[in-house]
Amino acid sequence: MNVDKNDLQTRLKLIRKGFREIGLIDGWMVYEPGPKDELVSKFPVEVATRIDGLKLRQYRLGDAAELTAMSERNAEFWGSGFQTQDMVERIKRAIISSAKNERADYAVEFEGVIVGAIGINFIHDYTKSASVGYSMDKAYTGRGFMSAALLAFDTVCFDAFGLHKINIETATDNEPSIAMLENCGYKYKGIDREMFYYDDKWNDYIEFTKINKNWKEEK
Ligand SMILES: CC(C)(COP(=O)(O)OP(=O)(O)OC[C@H]1O[C@@H](n2cnc3c(N)ncnc32)[C@H](O)[C@@H]1OP(=O)(O)O)[C@@H](O)C(=O)NCCC(=O)NCCS
Repeated sequence: MNVDKNDLQTRLKLIRKGFREIGLIDGWMVYEPGPKDELVSKFPVEVATRIDGLKLRQYRLGDAAELTAMSERNAEFWGSGFQTQDMVERIKRAIISSAKNERADYAVEFEGVIVGAIGINFIHDYTKSASVGYSMDKAYTGRGFMSAALLAFDTVCFDAFGLHKINIETATDNEPSIAMLENCGYKYKGIDREMFYYDDKWNDYIEFTKINKNWKEEK
């Protein structure tokens, strides 16, 4: 978990909870749990979906070549959606972050083949909300796969991880993504004006949100 070094309130809160500050990176303080903490990952290794043969599973180091190939053949389709460089490093970070309950990255696997990816881009610990992103291999789109993956992932975020809210931002012209979010029960939240810079301009994004109505405070 990284916190703005100037956000003293949050830093104090984390320190009181037993988190250790292990260093500064680009103005962000990096934390790890103190040695007395028993830290159990809340993220399951595998998650079934409503579609036979389709599941989410956490990344393994051996996935690097398959993930790289998938991101390279989808480079145009995904735009800036998925980084191709340093896949091994990316997977290592994902495994460590998930163990520390800092974020979660899952491969979407259909009959043993990785066909997409879904994960938490960042968790806002203070508000119990997260920003989620996803990408599907073009060859497997239009089969309801990402809808099934997202619904399963919502359950992980809400029931296993205890989030109160999921936020997803999508380009205003991304019709499949918008249709999918509406089908999956996400509500229109608003337009984030000039959110991402690409194609030589700042682009508006639509924000969608889903609230966990069964959220209960952990005592
Ligand atoms: C968005 C994306 C993840 C959807 O994956 P998918 O597995 O095809 O999604 P699903 O099949 O579950 O659902 C897609 C929905 O969009 C609809 N759809 C597909 N093309 C569409 C279009 N051109 N216009 C409107 N709706 C469209 C489908 O009919 C389906 O809705 P339905 O279930 O009511 O039929 C996939 O297209 C993708 O990876 N796109 C590129 C990367 C991306 O945009 N990531 C999201 C960034 S926020």
